Amino acid sequence: MDPFNKVKNHFEEEAKEFDQIILKLIPFYDQMIESLVLSVPFSKDDHIEVIDLGCGTGTVACKIRERFPNSRITCLDIAENMIKMAQAKLGEGPDYRVGDFYTFEFDRKYDLIISSLALHHLAEDESKRSFYRKIYNALSDNGVFYNADVVLGSGEHLQNLYMRKWKEFMNRSVSPDEIESKWIVKYKEEDRPASLMKHLKWLNEIGFQNVDVVWKYYNYAVYGGSR
Ligand SMILES: C[S@@+](CC[C@H](N)C(=O)[O-])C[C@H]1O[C@@H](n2cnc3c(N)ncnc32)[C@H](O)[C@@H]1O
Repeated sequence: MDPFNKVKNHFEEEAKEFDQIILKLIPFYDQMIESLVLSVPFSKDDHIEVIDLGCGTGTVACKIRERFPNSRITCLDIAENMIKMAQAKLGEGPDYRVGDFYTFEFDRKYDLIISSLALHHLAEDESKRSFYRKIYNALSDNGVFYNADVVLGSGEHLQNLYMRKWKEFMNRSVSPDEIESKWIVKYKEEDRPASLMKHLKWLNEIGFQNVDVVWKYYNYAVYGGSR
């Protein structure tokens, strides 16, 4: 099965249990998402145009709507079952789209492009970089992009430490056997993270302003910048 369909099938199957599973797998998921949403600089009453790339069950979109009640949100995901879960959580209001964000035609300018745990599937550095350019081009003049995601450590020692700390976190509620035979296997098969330093370099080179890291716990980071 090609990597794209592997990712799609994984999330089609996991959709119903996703909100419980993610808390066991991602260190301090709630805190990470809180920092992602708090980095958005707009005022409460602003009518902002938002797109959530790989929205999953709609957790991020839900927090954005709480903070910015006048926002207009597009929820985009390749997995139909994830979109159904997002619809159940958010109801009417957002524009729900089933599709691949890499080939998505951004048909308008967005004040906020946001994503969590979804943008790490492209294999090549150049593809990641050009996707950031596509995001930059889709932002409005004062638009911002923030991403929460898995990253690599700079160098072998840090990467080994990051993996150890990630497994230590998962082991609070997942058995060592399940960690190794299921979650690390999926990580190796589906995820293609890059180092945080590379992400920041690409964003700066493309022209993003105020590039910063808002939150980090070993191999998970929240970062982004403004146009
Ligand atoms: C780990 S989940 C994260 C969901 C949500 N953002 C969150 O943080 O709770 C990753 C989501 O990204 C979606 N996804 C992965 N690759 C995608 C792509 N190329 N286009 C659209 N959605 C994608 C998956 O279907 C899945 O719902």
